[in-house]
Amino acid sequence: MEARPTKVAIIGAGAVGTAIAYSSLIRGVARTIALMDINTAKVTAEVLDMSHGLEFVPRADIIGGDDVSVCADADVVVFTAGAKQKPGQSRLELAEATIGLTKKILPGVLEVAPNAIYIMVTNPVDIVTYAALKFSGLPNNQVFGSGTVLDSSRLRFRIAQYCGVAVQNVHAYIVGEHGDSEIPLWSSASIGGVPLLDWNPLPDGEPIDSASRAKMHDEVVHAAYKIIEGKGATNYAIGLAATRIVEAVLNDEHRVLPVSTVAKGYEGLDDVCLSLPTLVSRSGAGSRLHVPMSEEEHAGLMSSAETLRKMQEQFGL
Ligand code: LAC
Repeated sequence: MEARPTKVAIIGAGAVGTAIAYSSLIRGVARTIALMDINTAKVTAEVLDMSHGLEFVPRADIIGGDDVSVCADADVVVFTAGAKQKPGQSRLELAEATIGLTKKILPGVLEVAPNAIYIMVTNPVDIVTYAALKFSGLPNNQVFGSGTVLDSSRLRFRIAQYCGVAVQNVHAYIVGEHGDSEIPLWSSASIGGVPLLDWNPLPDGEPIDSASRAKMHDEVVHAAYKIIEGKGATNYAIGLAATRIVEAVLNDEHRVLPVSTVAKGYEGLDDVCLSLPTLVSRSGAGSRLHVPMSEEEHAGLMSSAETLRKMQEQFGL
């Protein structure tokens, strides 16, 4: 029997939501991409524009509208609706507005797509994911956030550029908050199987000393601020990162991705959503990997968790 055609619904037709829709079409992620936004004119125009390119991508339909009914029976729902980060504004400062919006929109979507895997992208994504879990009452595997998948790809890009290797040969994670308190796991990072801390520079290359690691970490933490300063929003890389997560779900990949989940039973982190390398499959967020960490990295993760816990308490979550 032929498998039922898959459907991805994206809530929010802003810069991020449309980037996810566009990259999903190009990568042939699902048969139907549904885009929902309260701005009828905007979502209609975005769907029409992308429809005109369907000849050039793998077979798919794109639909859209201002009503949750466009999300009916979705296999995956990606939540991007929310306030935009202004230049210099931290993601955590968006919390009050986006928690309210999540609480308002989620019930209607749940009614038409009760079995979907929910991927939260709206910032502050860790807080929004925790709120979505609480408001929806869904199990922890069914609701998770894009977390530090993007931050880890930013770090891998910088390491690859610094060392002169392909980014695909760099394995390195950022864990914790998708935000200012995030932590790079240098001690488990590797390049083509060589531990990063044992990396011998290629000819004309530089050693990866603590100063260069600190600089790369700072560049990753401030990447979004720099991009927002220049173009008003980030969208392409988060669009590709979120699409990668959707693919891991729909293809049942059991892919290790640093997504944001409730880290139940993970070293006292069971009441906060943050990112750790996690197995992502058709059931959503599965087991977390106990990646070895240095004492400094572990302390940084705990501090990041405390930042998020305080924010959760501030908003009564
Ligand atoms: C960024 C947004 C997605 O880091 O928070 O670009």
